[in-house]
Amino acid sequence: MSLSEYRKDFPVLNEQKDLHYLDTAASSLKPKCVIDKVDYYYNHYGCNVHRGVYGLSYEATDMYESARETIARFINADASEIVYTRGASASLNLVAQSYGMTFINEGDEIITSELEHHSNFMPWLNVANVKKATVKFVPLTKEGRITVENFKSVLTDKTKLVALTYVSNVMGYITPIKEIIKICHERGIIVSVDAAQAAPHMKIDVKELDCDFLSFSGHKMCGPTGIGVLYGKKSLLDKMPPVEFGGDMADTVLKDSMTFKEAPMKFETGTPIIAGAIGLGEACKYLDSIGLDKISAWESHLGHLAATELSKINGVTVYNPSVETGVVAFNIDGVHPHDAASIYDENHVCIRAGHHCAQLVTRFLNQISTTRASFYFYNTEEDVYALVDAVKKAIDFFGQF
Ligand code: ALA
Repeated sequence: MSLSEYRKDFPVLNEQKDLHYLDTAASSLKPKCVIDKVDYYYNHYGCNVHRGVYGLSYEATDMYESARETIARFINADASEIVYTRGASASLNLVAQSYGMTFINEGDEIITSELEHHSNFMPWLNVANVKKATVKFVPLTKEGRITVENFKSVLTDKTKLVALTYVSNVMGYITPIKEIIKICHERGIIVSVDAAQAAPHMKIDVKELDCDFLSFSGHKMCGPTGIGVLYGKKSLLDKMPPVEFGGDMADTVLKDSMTFKEAPMKFETGTPIIAGAIGLGEACKYLDSIGLDKISAWESHLGHLAATELSKINGVTVYNPSVETGVVAFNIDGVHPHDAASIYDENHVCIRAGHHCAQLVTRFLNQISTTRASFYFYNTEEDVYALVDAVKKAIDFFGQF
């Protein structure tokens, strides 16, 4: 069942009828309701929040804080567990900088995987280097998946924290994260989940998952750029120190001591991303009105169709043929993805080529670069066939096969 009725909500798609936008994993397009909501804040308010002792600022604060409640409902959290950040990268860094630098000690082990985006690996490598801890990797299956069995094989008595992606930004595989969290909690291990490629596409219930931390960005889920979320269990946020100091997060400041507001405020320093937060709240309402289950089902269909059709082309290697989401990674054998990308662009097919900020995945695939098409609910089967045609044209142009 196509969700093409929602295409009309996207000004870019109305303006460019021949556009095949297959780069949602990098950033989604933005619907009119979100653009209007951001516009509304700037047109009617534009003032600061939490500070002004006047009606305009009180109202802006209400909008800003009620967006936090909407976002919390979106993942079944409490508003006090939602920290606004600049994006998933900032959220993941905050966990490492605050929780990691405080609670990881010499000799401890951190488990991650080669499927991680740099943002969920580099901060932990940094913690491990500083704290003399060790980073261990879940051995991936031949097709590049994390399994519960493989995860268990690297678990030891020294494991203190697990940092894994929910959905890989290159391979599109879904990690069996709920089972992994259960195993970790039986041993008192903390789990930080990178949900940048999951929150926009599937229903997430943090209570059901029981994750300790969960990070995502607004701009990949119809929200504005520059806003993201760190969900953290309140008991954990409460014992974590702030990593940035200054305006709004302070409680009492004396010459020789300082205290901070409670979480989440102690992590939100300076004038916040007001319009971004309000826009993200609207994006959550919009996605809920469509239905996350419908969104995942349609994207899974498109991802499967694309992987199947691309696999049929002689000279194309699809790296994740069994993918269950809307992300397809492939290459034309012997053609650099950036060369092929110029042909895709001429055919109005927008995709990403490169290492996708996940160099460990590219190395796992023995490639220097891959091509990635990523689908969202506003994509259609026509988009899939436009991609397939463009790939065939690139093969003709580069004279292969
Ligand atoms: N992290 C984004 C991607 O995977 C930018 O493309």
